[in-house]
Amino acid sequence: MKIVLGVGGGIAAYKSAELARLLMQEGHQVQAVMTAAAQEFLRPMTLAALTGRRVLADLFAIENAIDHIRAAQENELMVVAPATADLLGRMANGLADDFLTTLYLAFTGPVLLAPSMNVNMLAHPAVVANLETLKRRGHRIVEPGVGYLACGMTGPGRMAEPEEIAAAVGREAHRRRDLEGEVVLITAGPTQEPLDPVRYITNRSSGKMGYAMAEEAAARGAAVVLISGPVALRPPFGVELVTVHTAAEMRREVLDRLGPATIVIKAAAVADFHLSRVPPQKMKKTAARLSLELDPTPDILAELGGRKGDRLLIGFAAETENLVEEARRKLRVKNCDMVVGNLVGSAEVGFEADLNEVVLVTSTGETVTVPRAPKREVAERIFDEVLKLRLALHAAQ
Ligand code: PMT
Repeated sequence: MKIVLGVGGGIAAYKSAELARLLMQEGHQVQAVMTAAAQEFLRPMTLAALTGRRVLADLFAIENAIDHIRAAQENELMVVAPATADLLGRMANGLADDFLTTLYLAFTGPVLLAPSMNVNMLAHPAVVANLETLKRRGHRIVEPGVGYLACGMTGPGRMAEPEEIAAAVGREAHRRRDLEGEVVLITAGPTQEPLDPVRYITNRSSGKMGYAMAEEAAARGAAVVLISGPVALRPPFGVELVTVHTAAEMRREVLDRLGPATIVIKAAAVADFHLSRVPPQKMKKTAARLSLELDPTPDILAELGGRKGDRLLIGFAAETENLVEEARRKLRVKNCDMVVGNLVGSAEVGFEADLNEVVLVTSTGETVTVPRAPKREVAERIFDEVLKLRLALHAAQ
């Protein structure tokens, strides 16, 4: 691949030389672009010698007159390593005050970011917000490692090792846009089922898993419709967001948008029960006890299973025990092509957590375990398996 390697002004800049060497060794073409601060840590000559190309840095040097546009058009992947707090802030906010940030705004391909900074800076709300903005744009983050930092502190913030970044580049080279042309309909988050005008029942779904699926699908070229219960997340860029509250509303929106969908992913935690007749007034605390008669909500997944057509239907199963058996049961009973089983009930994975670990069961009899990882990486693996399943089902026809 043709890669722009953006180097920010952090002590980890010295590792970008090793990264450049690895990428060249793997046959990529590397165009290094350095910020002024980066040149305080690493001489451009080092990267020029390793990549065999002049290093681009000064936006106003006459020989670089339109190079930022040409560099943006010629290259297929942009890697920023180290991505310092300053660089992340300028990229997140669309500043273009040097060659690298100007090139970034003109670049339309996938972007890989390797943050590197002091542990407290990484946790600062401004940096957290900038990273969230960049993730919502579909950029991939090669998470910083935990360890000894140049400032003498220990904790998260060390730039990922060059080998790890090079591996992420390899995945990106493989992935490209393999969901181009797909229309992916995704449900995410909880539903809220009213008990009276001021109360409702809900669950602990944060929407993170479903939103990670939407981010991943959009980054791989799919047209994405995200039907979401109430969550505190902002939708990935380029994704059509439809907000709902109740299971009934979610069902209506899913059925309204089902037509063009080629892949349906039901990651939402839809309430199983609701109050059929919601009283018009707030229930008073008169009686010592309150008992409620709840009725089942419409099972949207089962209904989709009955009208699947040739689209792929992927359900989720939130279990506290018998994960694989329950996932297989739901696969069969709801006529899914795949069910993503995940254990819920612990704080580390499942509801609300940033991580997840899942077991995928498919209609072709496969059982695939995806080990604990950030939900975006789990989403990546799920879509890899969805595409393999699609090929297996076509081959079986
Ligand atoms: O949102 P997060 O905080 O990231 O948490 C992620 C998650 C744990 C919510 C997610 O990974 C997950 O497991 N989602 C499914 C939760 C759920 O409702 O599982 P279930 O086993 O109760 O339902 C099985 C399937 O039927 C699900 O695909 C669900 O969307 C669907 N369903 C359930 C009830 C209903 N009335 N209609 C449905 O379509």
